Amino acid sequence: MIDVRVFDTAEGVAVAAADAVVALVRRKPDTVLGLATGSTPLGTYDQLAERRRREGISFTRVRGFLLDEYVGLAPDHPERYRNVILRDLAARVGMPVENLRAPRVDEPDLAAACAEYEAEIARAGGVDLQILGLGTDGHIAFNMPGSELDSRTRLTTLTDQTVRDNARFFDGDEGQVPREVLTQGLATIMEAREILLLVTGERKAAALAELLEGTVTPERPGSVLHAHPRTTVLADRAAAPPVGVASTW
Ligand code: GLP
Repeated sequence: MIDVRVFDTAEGVAVAAADAVVALVRRKPDTVLGLATGSTPLGTYDQLAERRRREGISFTRVRGFLLDEYVGLAPDHPERYRNVILRDLAARVGMPVENLRAPRVDEPDLAAACAEYEAEIARAGGVDLQILGLGTDGHIAFNMPGSELDSRTRLTTLTDQTVRDNARFFDGDEGQVPREVLTQGLATIMEAREILLLVTGERKAAALAELLEGTVTPERPGSVLHAHPRTTVLADRAAAPPVGVASTW
């Protein structure tokens, strides 16, 4: 079952997501967060920085696991997802760098690095709250259409559409976007105790409508969330299907 909450603006989505994170961190100071990159969660990360400034909430014991990482970018490349999260979230909320984990894309044995990432998540006690975005083709993390529903952290290849979508982070140059990535699998993501799927903007409306209407299928990786016990979609009006203010699918 997926709960859907619709807000007038993307800022409303960001505030609601930040509220959920803050409430959890207050309750459990060593919360394990699952962290998404892309443009959608940036507003939420801005809100968290603001809440920390205003309310002095401490993130020093919060731990974070990234969903995915590009293979082949230099360790100091600004678009390495680990660097993105360090810059856009950790540095601003005071989350210590050693509390942040990303798949280790520089290891010679990537399969071993993926297995180790799964083990690290397990050793941390699992993810308490996973923040997710949605690709225009319905992907979550870097699980492209066709991903196995029982997939775990692994090496995979981006579709042309995702390379095109993500070129905006690489000076609009598709040639600079790595094709290979490590990503948490769909089954890995499904083990998070709670999931917030953030969806904003008209260009996501079709993907969200398909996710909500459709049955669970590898062709729409986000549809796997129908089988999760505690998933909430936070959508702005531009992305949401034309229904009431709050609904359940
Ligand atoms: C990338 C990320 C996903 C993200 C998606 C959507 O593919 N790996 O985690 O959800 O982009 O990005 P955006 O929020 O910029 O639309």
